[in-house]
Amino acid sequence: MEIVIVGAGVVGLATAWRAAARGAAVTLVDPAPGSAATAVAAGMLNPVSELTYGEEPLLRLGLASRERYGAFVAELEELTGLDTAYRADGIVQVAFDSGDLGYLDDLRRFQESLGVPAAPLTGRECRELEPMLAPGVRGGLLAPEDGSIDPRRLAPALLAAAEKRGTRLVRRRAEGVLVERDAAVGVRLDDGTELRADRVLLAAGPWSGDLDGLPPGAVPAVRPVKGQVIRLRTRVPFLRRCVRGLVQGSSIYLVPRADGEIVLGATQEELGFDTQVTAGGLWELLRDARELLPGITELDFVEVSAGLRPGSPDNAPVMGPSPLPGLVLGTGHFRNGILLTPVSADILTDVLLDGTVPDVGLPFTPARFEEQR
Ligand code: GLY
Repeated sequence: MEIVIVGAGVVGLATAWRAAARGAAVTLVDPAPGSAATAVAAGMLNPVSELTYGEEPLLRLGLASRERYGAFVAELEELTGLDTAYRADGIVQVAFDSGDLGYLDDLRRFQESLGVPAAPLTGRECRELEPMLAPGVRGGLLAPEDGSIDPRRLAPALLAAAEKRGTRLVRRRAEGVLVERDAAVGVRLDDGTELRADRVLLAAGPWSGDLDGLPPGAVPAVRPVKGQVIRLRTRVPFLRRCVRGLVQGSSIYLVPRADGEIVLGATQEELGFDTQVTAGGLWELLRDARELLPGITELDFVEVSAGLRPGSPDNAPVMGPSPLPGLVLGTGHFRNGILLTPVSADILTDVLLDGTVPDVGLPFTPARFEEQR
């Protein structure tokens, strides 16, 4: 089985690893593996703390992926000798004012109704867990099994694992899909080279529908949703674990790493393919972070970046066979790409190699958009 994967973000990389490990001849096409959203993402692993009303199927998928993460990382680190900064030591969600606390209470009841309770915390309990939190923090929730990973370490580890299993990386842009007798039979690169394959996987985030030759309706609209992220560094212990905060209805998160990095995110902006960092975006992040953690102003500034989350029409991933035979889609992971990497790689590998969608992936196939049409 010859497979071409377009896009070496975490989903494309992990699928390349898994498919190659099962014996497929995999070619991965990307001019800059592990860049784009992967390099900007903070890397929270948070099906519970990111839960949104009406997204129960996504919660189930996120929980399935979180359950797989420990073994996935252990295997990856063992194979490559690379550290991914994986941690599963919980995420604290905190509320700034009584309105924010009311929202967290509603969220806790919703989580309980779905059988994934998070522990309620008083303001004092929040500060016992995270002493740098402001005295005014009203209360919160602890999701004890959520965690984080460093996407900038995860991506090179996945690439090394994929290459160890025989994946060939082509550092070029895929320009078109080759279609013969109404089926995808490969891709054409930007230098004109044609790569033929039994299956083509499009895992190119919001660029997945941009290739020439795709028939209308083959790829559902996947829009870019901009997120601006700040990277800081602390020289002294500052945060023990991830903190998510609601500050007068606006949401931020801080993801600490063992090496002192703290990632502060993120804006959510629908501005097309714009990755300009703006003064307003940074100001909002820093303003809200300072309300929750006044000491943040003492930290070293390292970097600011903006990435594009791939948002499908229902904001859930699009994984499975497309209407064009031979073409498989693995995009639309929106705010959850890093979390959903292990389960997505398992689903997509089954689709590519066996032509079947495992049960956990059934709600997320592209067919749901065809049915709507
Ligand atoms: N999952 C965090 C974000 O998309 O900003």
